Amino acid sequence: MSAATPVIAIDGPSASGKGTVAQRVAAALGWHYLDSGALYRLVALAALRAGVDWTDMGRLVGLAERLDARFAAGEIFLGRDRVTDAIRTEECSTGASRVAGVPEVRAALLAKQRAFRQPPGLVAEGRDMGSIVFPDAGLKVFLTASAEVRAERRLKQLIEKGIPANIQTLVRDLRERDARDAERPVAPLRQLPDARLLDTTTLGVDEAVAQVLAWQGERASSR
Ligand code: C5P
Repeated sequence: MSAATPVIAIDGPSASGKGTVAQRVAAALGWHYLDSGALYRLVALAALRAGVDWTDMGRLVGLAERLDARFAAGEIFLGRDRVTDAIRTEECSTGASRVAGVPEVRAALLAKQRAFRQPPGLVAEGRDMGSIVFPDAGLKVFLTASAEVRAERRLKQLIEKGIPANIQTLVRDLRERDARDAERPVAPLRQLPDARLLDTTTLGVDEAVAQVLAWQGERASSR
């Protein structure tokens, strides 16, 4: 896609609020939105449904290459199935971070992610938006918060969706997932030198969105 189409890359750990902030920024600018984590979650769901083992690299890569993912009107589809909520379970979260460690799975999902770069612009969120997928993004943000605050936010989300959860398990799972995402050899999660840090431990969504829009505004007016 046109490299001239502007991109805001928002990376950060699980449940840091990236999704909400990125969607609101995209809506405010009238830009497209990419939830890259959903693609890894879809591969994990496809693997769970097909009974594929997390160690079976060949079949995981095959699932990623043939992934029939569709995003429409806020809903996510795997083939014909609406799986918007099904990909948010803890089982899919853990599975996603496992499949995300396989370099060939990441390679298979690269073109799918870049295809989201369409005029007038794209707000993309994930772990490697600024480093690998859109290294030329005009604005890169590293959005984070403490593990405890992130676990509380995830608990609230899950309860709202009627998915049973418990805070201790969530903190433990988040820490394990953070460690796997940060320590993996391929596309590890880390703050890039050219990314702005946005810590939302004590910041509300409105303030976080306003900050990203202010940074984007500075960029636009300095060009
Ligand atoms: O962002 P979300 O929690 O939905 O992502 C699920 C998992 O997918 C993450 O734990 C991470 O391992 C993986 N992921 C990734 N690269 C991305 C987005 C997500 O490795 N760009």
